[in-house]
Amino acid sequence: MTPVTPETPETPDLPDDLLTPEAVRDPDGAAAVLREHDPVHWSPTHRAWLVTRFDDVVAAFRNPALSSDRVRPLMTRASGAPSRRVLGLISEWMVVTDPPAHTRLRRLAGAAFKQQQIAAMEERIQGLVDELVDAFLADEGTDLVAGVAYPLPAIVIAEMLGAPPADRDRFRAWSDELALVAFGAGGDARPDRHERALRGLEEMAGYFRELVAHRRREPGGDMLSAMIGEGSDPEALSDDELVGMCALLLFAGHETTTNAIANAVRLLTADPALRDRVRDDPALVNPAVEEALRLVGPIKVLVRWVVEDHELRGREIRRGERVYLLLCGANRDPERFTDPDTVDLARERATHVAFGRGIHACIGAQLARIETRIAVGTLLRRLPGLRVAGDAEYLPTIASRAQESLTVVHDGVPAGSAR
Ligand code: HEM
Repeated sequence: MTPVTPETPETPDLPDDLLTPEAVRDPDGAAAVLREHDPVHWSPTHRAWLVTRFDDVVAAFRNPALSSDRVRPLMTRASGAPSRRVLGLISEWMVVTDPPAHTRLRRLAGAAFKQQQIAAMEERIQGLVDELVDAFLADEGTDLVAGVAYPLPAIVIAEMLGAPPADRDRFRAWSDELALVAFGAGGDARPDRHERALRGLEEMAGYFRELVAHRRREPGGDMLSAMIGEGSDPEALSDDELVGMCALLLFAGHETTTNAIANAVRLLTADPALRDRVRDDPALVNPAVEEALRLVGPIKVLVRWVVEDHELRGREIRRGERVYLLLCGANRDPERFTDPDTVDLARERATHVAFGRGIHACIGAQLARIETRIAVGTLLRRLPGLRVAGDAEYLPTIASRAQESLTVVHDGVPAGSAR
């Protein structure tokens, strides 16, 4: 077979621009066409290979020819000290490093996560969800993103890091700024917004630096104290690395979980019979959330850089090129999943790739699952007849499946109402 190079695309009519209004509205439809007609497809628009089959995506997660080091190349283009300082912090994140640097960071963060006993946080998370839903009902709120899905994960991360409750709102603002700077989220390239975000992130770095100093002096039972350790580990994290780790946990754990909750609510309430079945049987909440992660997962695409020439399905993938792993394609691959577009509550659990695989597989998956299950289960129970008004309007981004708001109606009785 003659390898096809990026310069000679043989199927020019495929939906390989992931930012067209159609592809943003229906990324799964675009991925299905690509998967069927050209599963390893060169997109001239993105100047990247689009990989859509489950087996290829899973293999890519374990392929050392593909690097996660995708921020450092941007640093040469960064102008101004704040840009360089903030990108410097981001470029050290374990999610954008390869072994051996990644191995060390992952080991230390993994140990701190273990100490947190995430399962024991269930009661606290249920309490937070109840508070948010109480307020949502009392205010007769209509936007579930603003009322529940957006605040919840920011509060959980702030608490996990041992930050005082009064600082929660700052975490939300920093999370938005991180998304804007790290991946140009929202498709908003206005330089003034970017500049403001950079200033916000400098403030965030200062805040985390103080929090680190405080926890070095007075360790607590929080995750940051666990990441600092007892000083006996010769590989222990430096202050800069701890600041970076705090920012990474906020970045990786906030928007993703918000979208997981919002996307699951939309999917599961679209069919009233399914919604009521899940509401009436708490044992079905877990499989329902797994199906939502598979079908409408918060991350559509992960990016890798090619560091070694190799071949995939007859395509020559060359060093210096980019590969987009379309999780939305893999998670609906009919070769892997029977009736892939259908919610099947009896499906074998957790075979999807919504949390990635391999060395970078999501370190917060257990926490994310707990938050999403508790939020979704509670909302279905406390907001009977829950339905979403209008069609999904996803933000025009390549990486995430994000709804800025989720307007809902329901038959729930607001707190204090005489109904
Ligand atoms: C439903 C919500 C979430 C989804 C869908 C999700 C998804 C992912 C995916 C796909 C990756 C792999 C990235 C790659 O291979 O390049 C990842 C990595 C990561 N996630 Fe999550 N995530 C979620 C929630 C969280 C939470 C709550 C936290 C922590 C508070 C978190 C922390 C991380 C970190 C630190 C990494 C990097 C791991 C590494 O590089 O070794 N995530 N996540």
